[in-house]
Amino acid sequence: MDGGKKLFIKTYGCQMNVYDSERMAEALPDHDLVETPEEADLILLNTCHIREKAAEKVYSELGRFKPLKAAKPDLKIGVAGCVAQAEGEEIVRRQPLVDLVVGPQAYHRLPEMERRVRDGSRALDTDFPEEDKFERLKGRGGMRRGPTAFLTVQEGCDKFCSFCVVPYTRGAERSRPAERVVAEARGLVERGAREVTLLGQNVNAYHGHDGGLAGLIMDLARIDGLERIRYTTSHPNDMDDALIEAHGAEPKLMPYLHLPVQSGSDRILKAMNRKHTSEGYLRLIARVRAARPDIVISGDFIVGFPGETDSDFEETMSLVREVGYGHAFSFKYSARPGTPAAERGSRVPDGTASARLDRLQRLLAEQQAGAMEAMVGREVGVLFEKEGRSPGQLVGKSEHLMAVHADLPGDRIGTLAKVRITASNPNSLSAVPA
Ligand code: 5AD
Ligand code: SF4
Repeated sequence: MDGGKKLFIKTYGCQMNVYDSERMAEALPDHDLVETPEEADLILLNTCHIREKAAEKVYSELGRFKPLKAAKPDLKIGVAGCVAQAEGEEIVRRQPLVDLVVGPQAYHRLPEMERRVRDGSRALDTDFPEEDKFERLKGRGGMRRGPTAFLTVQEGCDKFCSFCVVPYTRGAERSRPAERVVAEARGLVERGAREVTLLGQNVNAYHGHDGGLAGLIMDLARIDGLERIRYTTSHPNDMDDALIEAHGAEPKLMPYLHLPVQSGSDRILKAMNRKHTSEGYLRLIARVRAARPDIVISGDFIVGFPGETDSDFEETMSLVREVGYGHAFSFKYSARPGTPAAERGSRVPDGTASARLDRLQRLLAEQQAGAMEAMVGREVGVLFEKEGRSPGQLVGKSEHLMAVHADLPGDRIGTLAKVRITASNPNSLSAVPA
């Protein structure tokens, strides 16, 4: 090694944090990434504030660094991400070993902050600065990378669902200009990417292109060597006609849609400030399926929202039965400080919420297993990403975002291959070359 400083980043939460962690590493080019906190001179925790459990994990993790810091006084510890944004200075009060607190909008200022902490000061930055952080966080280029890449195109949310911290931690909705996104995508493809997933807290509200997200997708689809385009995550009310049509018209746009609904009860949807009904959501799903009949639908659900009755919950169950999800995330409601829902009375007892979650998750797991079993016998395109567990095996994702493994030569990593699905396992499909 060249004796440069060593950086360890631990990422919690969503895919945007994964993208942000890569940008942070690139913003500190005089640091080498290491795999364990023990080797590091600088530790960054890229944190998530969405539910209480995620946010509290940060403090237990920080506590574990105490002996490390005692043994290595030069070790600097930073908290980034949404807990940093939401709690700011409070983090240092609760855990004085923290040297640096940086919110998601200030990552381009990390090099300067790092210098300050090296000089023995603390550094805290949770501003929403005017300058374009993406332009200042441009990748170093040149480095090869895996066949799949995340690309943030939109950040923030103006929807203010009553349970959600995102509008506060990530701020107002902003879109990156399409030319910049296309340029970044070209760079990713030159470095080996074959698939990009466009990221945004509300990505289908993207307005950096006259044609909205569909317009951006169509421009990206013209990049030679870029084979697959995905996007996540979306709000039902921003699913416009052009985007629905794109699912039927653009073969590079993958047949998978993550479209959270949260609840099947109109009463609860209203209390959640979702601004759509369950009927409206179902109609939308029907239109998307008309455009692309084989599309896999994925969703997010919250059970135990304040005031949720048994019959509200049954409505969620029937919506799930009606849609038939290929994949989903479901959570127990977590009251977040500062959100309107946290002020509501009529909390659902934890035991009731757990029982509902359990039933919902069993139904969703059955549906997922059914969607995967339906693939057995079919020929599907897979982008192979890496070696599997057993020798000679590669793993990748199908167009429908299902994990697939097959025995193939190692030089097929990073390429698309047609395979035939032979079996479905709990979390993956087995396949043979077609
Ligand atoms: N409690 C539980 N789940 C939440 N989510 C967002 N906020 C909360 C909360 N306070 C879930 C929603 C959202 C996903 C990213 O996290 O389902 O779609
Ligand atoms: Fe949160 Fe999504 Fe609602 Fe925005 S649309 S407030 S990110 S749940």
